[in-house]
Amino acid sequence: MEIERKLVIGLRTYLVQGNFKECEDQVEDARRAFPYAFIYLAACGLPPSEKMRATADEVTHYSTEPLGLGVPNKLIIEKALAEGALQLVIVDGDRQHFMATVKDLLDKYGQRSVAVIPERKKRFLFSREELHGPTVEDLLNGFLRLSFGCNLKDPAPGLYLFPNARTLSGFKFNAQHSWVGDAELVKNVFTHKLAVESPEISVREKTYSISRRDLVFNSFLESEKFFGVTLAEVAEFIKTHPEESLFGGNFFEIDRTVEAFGGFRSQLKIKGMKALVLAGGKGTRLKPFTHTIQKQLFPIANKPVLHYIIEKIVRAGIREIGVIVGPNKDQVKNALGDGSKWNCSITYIDQDDPAGLAHAVLTAKDFLGESSFLMYLGDNLLRDELGDFLKEFVDSGFAASLTLKRVANPANYGIAEIDSHGRIVRLLEKPKNPPSDLAIVGIYAFTHKIFGAIGRTKPSARGELEITDAIQQLCEKKENINYRIIDGWWEDTGTPESLLDANVLILSSAPPTPAVKGKVSKTAVVKGGVEIGEGTVIEGDCVLLGPSVIGAHCVIGSGALIGPYSSIGDNCSIRNAQVLGSIVLEDTAIDCTKQIIFSVIGKNCRITSDSPSKGIDKVTLRIGDDTSIKV
Ligand code: DAU
Repeated sequence: MEIERKLVIGLRTYLVQGNFKECEDQVEDARRAFPYAFIYLAACGLPPSEKMRATADEVTHYSTEPLGLGVPNKLIIEKALAEGALQLVIVDGDRQHFMATVKDLLDKYGQRSVAVIPERKKRFLFSREELHGPTVEDLLNGFLRLSFGCNLKDPAPGLYLFPNARTLSGFKFNAQHSWVGDAELVKNVFTHKLAVESPEISVREKTYSISRRDLVFNSFLESEKFFGVTLAEVAEFIKTHPEESLFGGNFFEIDRTVEAFGGFRSQLKIKGMKALVLAGGKGTRLKPFTHTIQKQLFPIANKPVLHYIIEKIVRAGIREIGVIVGPNKDQVKNALGDGSKWNCSITYIDQDDPAGLAHAVLTAKDFLGESSFLMYLGDNLLRDELGDFLKEFVDSGFAASLTLKRVANPANYGIAEIDSHGRIVRLLEKPKNPPSDLAIVGIYAFTHKIFGAIGRTKPSARGELEITDAIQQLCEKKENINYRIIDGWWEDTGTPESLLDANVLILSSAPPTPAVKGKVSKTAVVKGGVEIGEGTVIEGDCVLLGPSVIGAHCVIGSGALIGPYSSIGDNCSIRNAQVLGSIVLEDTAIDCTKQIIFSVIGKNCRITSDSPSKGIDKVTLRIGDDTSIKV
């Protein structure tokens, strides 16, 4: 009896709905097994129940979030020392361990000056999700093995007995993540030179495991820092000494786990990057449309180009975006807002004089600080996602990374020349005699080294500070430049023709799901993916062919034919006419007998015709806003 009063049972638990009942049972089991012990519950997550509070001697609810095992270990050890305990047991609150086992171990080891870190006959930790549990445990335990020669098969069993609790004074806890808190407890045991016993014990079938992939990976990250050993080194050690370190894991899962961790780490680095989107410049090649609309806001399939770009950047994992604005800056600000719509933050950077792409980067110097960044030209549309490109960049450690694409007309672009070893050796902006057909796509990744290179760059013949020349400066300093040649489509939406091409590419690569929010007459024919906006009325016997989008509050009158590859903006009315492969912006009315093909028609236009058409007359139009014409 006397001994038991000096026994502290420290239960630690992360309470969630799925394990609440079993934790409650575990506290009761402990009370039944040790009626006179001081039972201390250190819990995080959900608030402990009244029953837990009534059963335990003391309960600490230290956080609603899990803070790793170091925190409860520290709380429990401090409590034991404050209570003047002779013996201490630290045990998980989920019911993996039998209290009868705890009793047996206490009986066996009595008050000897040993730490008891038992070895489970079966492992459960990290058993959920696609990571192979025992392999993950072996990898985690490998850190202990490699950094200070801990030879325990199972250093993290979730049950630790200290039959002489006084040996614990001086134990230190700094670790943050779940498993590392226990590894640190074991490290304390070793650095305090306590003798360790590691008897085999049986455990219950674990009913609930809360270990998720991100918790595991955060533990790896912290372990690398904490133990000064990398996961790759641990994996190598396990592979070369399997008999010493592979206790439950699967040899073949090791590489997969290391690779998945690599992906997680790259994603973290990408998250630390910023993005710079260039939405300034005059857009002279897109006149007359750019008299009234900033070119990067031109709608493709009824959505501004910039929206596609922001969505793509956010999907790649970057959340801090700077947008360069010049003329029509208010239009851009209205179209993007503060970024909350996409769960990112947008900062606007004024570039009043569009003096070149490298000049735009200089203008953003304060925003970019020391971060690596993705630079995205606001008129570029790309089929591919950015994930692989950014992963390669952050993993390479190179000064810059480019996206390249083979083109038929290289003289219109920045061009990269590559040597026989596949290295970039020269970059040229719109050369008259291009040395290769590899165009530089307007999507780049840079480290802050680009600023030094821009400093060494002179304005080009067209009077601009070219980013291509700045990258050439990096080459001259023998900096490595990574690149990726893409196969998927890419459009620089700088001309009306490229807008129409982009419209076809977007509508065909992500065809609108046939969604009818408006009213369609019974005699109308709607085939293929056609999106019909709210309040739109499709009258009589008209024909709509997808892939096409029709905005909100339009009237498509009887006898009209729309599509395929047509995008009709909001509040348009189209009667009699046939509109194919065209972009029609909002508030425009077309009532004519012609077939309008491959046309770009601005906002608030009126298109009519005098006489009924004989046969089908085709017209191709480029019409700026507020224009009335007869065709
Ligand atoms: O599209 C890819 C090409 O983009 C690359 O192959 C070229 O190497 C690169 O120089 C660039 O050439 P462009 O002639 O197409 O660049 P543009 O003047 O159209 O500018 C690209 C985007 O950057 C556009 O959205 C406008 C914006 N911009 C441009 C300048 C010159 C700015 O925001 N500020 C500027 O000062």
